[in-house]
Amino acid sequence: MMLPPVIAPSILSADFARLAEETRAVDAAGADWIHLDVMDGHFVPNITFGPPVVKALRPHTQKFFDVHLMIAPADPYLAAFAEAGADGITVHAEAGPHIHRSLQTIRDLGKRAGVAINPGTPAALVEPVLDMVDLVLVMTVNPGFGGQKFLKSTMESVARIRAMVAGRDIRIQVDGGIDAETVKAASRAGADTFVAGNAVFSGGPDAYAERIATIRAGAEGASGRDLSC
Ligand code: DX5
Ligand code: ZN
Repeated sequence: MMLPPVIAPSILSADFARLAEETRAVDAAGADWIHLDVMDGHFVPNITFGPPVVKALRPHTQKFFDVHLMIAPADPYLAAFAEAGADGITVHAEAGPHIHRSLQTIRDLGKRAGVAINPGTPAALVEPVLDMVDLVLVMTVNPGFGGQKFLKSTMESVARIRAMVAGRDIRIQVDGGIDAETVKAASRAGADTFVAGNAVFSGGPDAYAERIATIRAGAEGASGRDLSC
């Protein structure tokens, strides 16, 4: 069973001086979710923003806030992101020794729980926690920066996770280097949820709607994808 595709622009590639306006613009341009990349300069070599920015953006859209935590440890901050307005919170399997506990905490907070793996992490790592998640995120670049090249080798993990998930109501998300072309390979491998930063924002606000529509068309049109079931 494949779920209809979700396109989630990452505001990491937005103009940070105009974040509220940018969030409203991608909402109006057809974004399904808003992807918020939180980085700590420790788990990844870059620093972005924390709960106050999520909270400040919350009144500007009704869209699902997909918060991707690239921080270690994550547990001390889960409640703050939930209170700030996250709808879903994704934590990295590599970010600590107790991924099961982190996912349990997210669910106890009433939020959708996601587990992420880096390109170098075996897909099998997520198997023991599949009952605890609504989403599995396969990083298609090494996390930390927007605008990097899509790593084809990660498609094997997507395909493995698609087989593991078999029939469960779990989304498979890809993040990094997704554009009108790479989205097709990711969709064929079994992804149904697509983060795109550079590919949406690089054309400026006038192009957001067309960029999102093109990525969606690529996801829907990829051969092997059967939306009838
Ligand atoms: C990378 C982030 C991504 C990033 C994707 O660490 O998790 O969400 O914004 O950006 P693009 O689509 O430009 O690769
Ligand atoms: Zn991300």
